[in-house]
Order: sequence, then C-alpha cells, then structure tokens
Amino acid sequence: MKILFYNIKHLLQVRDKTPTILKGEAMKDLPKVDDAWLLIENDKIADFGDMSTCPESGFDEKHDLNGQILLPTWVDSHTHLVYAGNREGEFADRIKGLTYQEIAEKGGGILNSAKTLQNTSEEQLLLETEARLNEIMKFGTGAVEIKSGYGLTKDAELKMLKVISKLKNKYNLPIKSTFLAAHALPKSYKDKKSDYINMVIDEILPEVVNQNLADYIDVFCEKGYFDLEDTEKIIEAGKKHGLKAKIHVNQFNAFGGVEVATKHQALSVDHLEELSVNDIVELKKSETIPVALPSCSFFLTIPYTPGRQIIDNGLPLALATDYNPGSSPNGNMNFVVSLACIKMNLTPEEAINAATINAAYAMEVENEVGSITKGKLANFIITEKIPSYHYLPYAFGNNSISQVWIGGKALQ
Ligand code: NIG
Ligand code: FE
Repeated sequence: MKILFYNIKHLLQVRDKTPTILKGEAMKDLPKVDDAWLLIENDKIADFGDMSTCPESGFDEKHDLNGQILLPTWVDSHTHLVYAGNREGEFADRIKGLTYQEIAEKGGGILNSAKTLQNTSEEQLLLETEARLNEIMKFGTGAVEIKSGYGLTKDAELKMLKVISKLKNKYNLPIKSTFLAAHALPKSYKDKKSDYINMVIDEILPEVVNQNLADYIDVFCEKGYFDLEDTEKIIEAGKKHGLKAKIHVNQFNAFGGVEVATKHQALSVDHLEELSVNDIVELKKSETIPVALPSCSFFLTIPYTPGRQIIDNGLPLALATDYNPGSSPNGNMNFVVSLACIKMNLTPEEAINAATINAAYAMEVENEVGSITKGKLANFIITEKIPSYHYLPYAFGNNSISQVWIGGKALQ
C-alpha cells in the first residue's frame, strides 16, 4: 500500500540519513522542505521532495494537506506509564503546603502507588496502561520508554514488566522497558536497604533477564532514596546482564550521581533539575545523554533543568514527559516542547530536535523514528492549518494536531 501526502506546507525534521546525536550548535538547525510531498509504503517512509518533483502516479491513495505541516512523531524516552490509580489527594496536600518529600516521608508518594499496584490484577493494570498509551499516541507520541518501579516486590515488578511486554506485542510503535525496582525502599525493608538491594539484584533481576522483560536498568539516585554506592552497585549488576543504565538523578540534589552514571556509560541521565559545574564537566567527557523533564518541574514547582546551559556547553539534550502519578500526571509531549521553550529558553528548533531525534537516541530507536528519513517508520504528526511550526510551542496547551499516523496508519 503506497500513500502520497502532497501540498505539505513544511515537511519538518527532514534528514537524508539519521544524523549523529545533535549537540550544542547543531541543535539550532531544524531542516525542512517547504511545499513538499511525502510517500509512504506500508509502514515505512518511502520518499519525499518538493512539489516540483511530486509523483503523479504509483500510489494507492493520496491526501491533500493544503497548508498543513508534517513532522515526525514525538519520542518520549522517560515514562512511568504503568501505574494503578492516581494520587490527586497528595496533590491537594501539596497545595496546602506539604512538600513532595514530606508526603513521601508520611508513606505517600511512590509507596502509595506501589500499594495500589500490588493489589491490582495484571489485566486491570493492562487496561489502565493501554488507556494512557492510546491517549499519548493521540498527543503525537510515536515511540515510548516505560519503567517498572511501582511494584517493589518480585511479583509486582514482574507484573509491571509483563504489562509492558504485552504492549510491545500489541502495538506497532517502538516501546522500550526499563527495570526500576530501586525506585523507593519498601516499608518492609525499613533500615534494611542493603537487603532490599541484594534482593533486587539476586532475585528479581535474573528473572527479569531470563524472561527478557527489560531493555534497561534504572535507579532513583536521590537523598532519602538510593545513594551513590547503591546506584553504582545496581548499574554494575545491570551491566553484567547486558542492561544499559538510564538513571533518575539530580531531581532535588546534585551530589555526584551524574559522575557515577557517566563513569558506567549510562545511556541517559534524567531529571537534572539541579546541576553542578562538575556534572557538566563529566557529561562533556561522556556519551551519556542528558534528559530534561519539564512537566515534572511544572507540576512540583521545582527548578527547570538548565537546558540552555547544557546546550550552550556543546552537549546534547533530550526532552521527555516523565508521565507518572506523582510528579507528572500528564503525558503530553506538546506541552513539554512548549515548556522547554517558555521555561528553559530553548528555541522551537532546539526543542523539536530534543523531542524527536535526540529523544530517539535516548531510547536507542534512532534508526526507526525521530526524523523524516527514507526507511524509517511512517510515524508522523499532521498539524492543523497553523501559521508556522513556531506556533506549536507558542500556542501552549492548544491541540494543534489534526492527525497522527503510526506505522503507516492514521489513528482513529
Ligand atoms: O521521575 N523521581 C522519581 N520517580 C518519579 C516520580 C515518582 C512518583 O512520585 O510516583 C519521577 O519524578
Ligand atoms: Fe521518572
């Protein structure tokens, strides 16, 4: 099946071949073809060009996009899409003055979500997660990473990862799964943190690997959660089983987690709301990708990741939603792109690069998605008739999307 899209006002993020990850200055450039056409064949991008070269035959279906913009789908490289129930009660508590940390200390936060998830069947969990996956696809997400970490027991962690595995089989967008049992210390392990870590490494991890349930390993490296030594131990254990690390680090405190992650060639370091001079130095020496999660900053009213500083230091930057019930109960990448411009001072070009091709690198799907390139998946967004692509981040909170295509098919 060949489908032609023509009279495209701007075909955005066009790359003849997948570029290397975009760093610093290179993030300023967002290549486009004006007045363009795009041909897809089954689930792949077959060809494109400007209207002077538009094919007149050789396709089964054609769509006149007269005035609309076409760009690759967003890539969301950091989510906690699998969870049960919500935490709107804690949201109200925060408005009344409690901090995220104080709520966690009272047994709320991650432990609250873990309790609910442990008592939810795998079928129900799959239903709730699928609803969120369908929702984010409508927002234009065409590849997603999903973490465990609300199980915190062997059974519940495996249950979460099995849900992700079912989604991988059922949906035709790239999905990666990350094992995050070191997300919080369960109450039953109070004052026995090393026992918990040993249990995660010796009992859960081998089973996760045996059943091929994870692509990556993650740790919440933060004061009151897991320290540098714990983080290193878990990254090393993952490495032994062939799992690269993607680490939650510097959300509230910068105390050396970036250095531990880069030392072990982590694929990404995510959050970075706090960032030290030494962190920048370590990132520059490494291939580890910094990932900013601005809707978490928005929701928790904490600092935004200094994305401007990261890019101005010649580093790459990726953007993701962190969709989860506690710190970002929203998976809309359009809002993330707006926040990156409004609150982190990224240009629209930098933000779109960070949310497409660089984000694809942050979950190793750069050969499948992230740009309009021949042979990549036909996963793209068709906008409403908007004046320019700058309008996307500018009109924050608007829905400027007319249609989303995943694997060569329009979402209904
Ligand atoms: O990425 N920071 C750690 N984990 C999640 C939030 C967890 C929660 O509050 O449920 C995050 O923000
Ligand atoms: Fe997260």
